[in-house]
Amino acid sequence: MLKFIHLTDIHLISGGRRLYGVSPERRLHAAIDSILEEHGDADFVVFTGDQAHWGDDASYGVLSDAIGRLDMPVKVLMGNHDHRDVLLKVVPGVEADANGFVQSALDTEAGRCLFLDTKKDTATDAGEYCETRRAWLRERLEESDEPAMIFMHHPPLKLGLKGMDVIDLLDSDAFFDVLEPHIGKIRHIFFGHVHRPVSGNWRGIGFTCIRGLNHQLALDLRAPQTSVPGNFEPPVYGVVLADRDQIVAHLHEFMDRSPRFELVTPDGQDGKEYSLNMRHGDWDRMT
Ligand SMILES: [Fe+2]
Repeated sequence: MLKFIHLTDIHLISGGRRLYGVSPERRLHAAIDSILEEHGDADFVVFTGDQAHWGDDASYGVLSDAIGRLDMPVKVLMGNHDHRDVLLKVVPGVEADANGFVQSALDTEAGRCLFLDTKKDTATDAGEYCETRRAWLRERLEESDEPAMIFMHHPPLKLGLKGMDVIDLLDSDAFFDVLEPHIGKIRHIFFGHVHRPVSGNWRGIGFTCIRGLNHQLALDLRAPQTSVPGNFEPPVYGVVLADRDQIVAHLHEFMDRSPRFELVTPDGQDGKEYSLNMRHGDWDRMT
């Protein structure tokens, strides 16, 4: 069984500074503490973009130090906030394809993992997947009959979140044209960008998006296109278990500090006493 960890949108800033009042560096190290303690057996860790809020050298230095603590391979993808040349210069082990895009393939026991670069190189938060990148993906899909999982930053579909839907993958139809001849082996897409947990199916392909590590997008389907409402729902990382039969994506709210207890006690009774005591919610849920 393949096991990997999915983190996204960590939005690092350097110098221990806070972003929207939260320290992304501290949260990243808390996530890595948790991964090392609970999931040290993971086969790899993937960051699906927006590593550095301003794409600067110092922030990628913070990232390098943090991921240096991980024992397993790490895949780092481009997000709209990232700077490709700086990322490649500062963070060791980031792979680029022959055209300089941050794209790579990894063959695993559960199939081929394809890591895509959807950064649009103009002043926009929207994404693109140009013909040069599509040619790379076409080759990777044609050269292997293995089932494939795709990792990218921008969602290729509308999610009903108007402020984000205008900055998704702009050329998603052309992207799908590359996938369509191989649709039977495209098993799942994992993406970020949205800072919300969202799952579903796009043209026959399952997808999973998770919260970021720093700030989140509030679920407000009424918000207009001009609004991107934020909040501080708990940070998560994904724990994904995959083999030839199934893909299971768990969300881990790794900073949750609520009490842990057995839902069913050894004598077969449920936890009535705990339920009564905890009704007041007097524990420190978040740090
Ligand atoms: Fe982001």
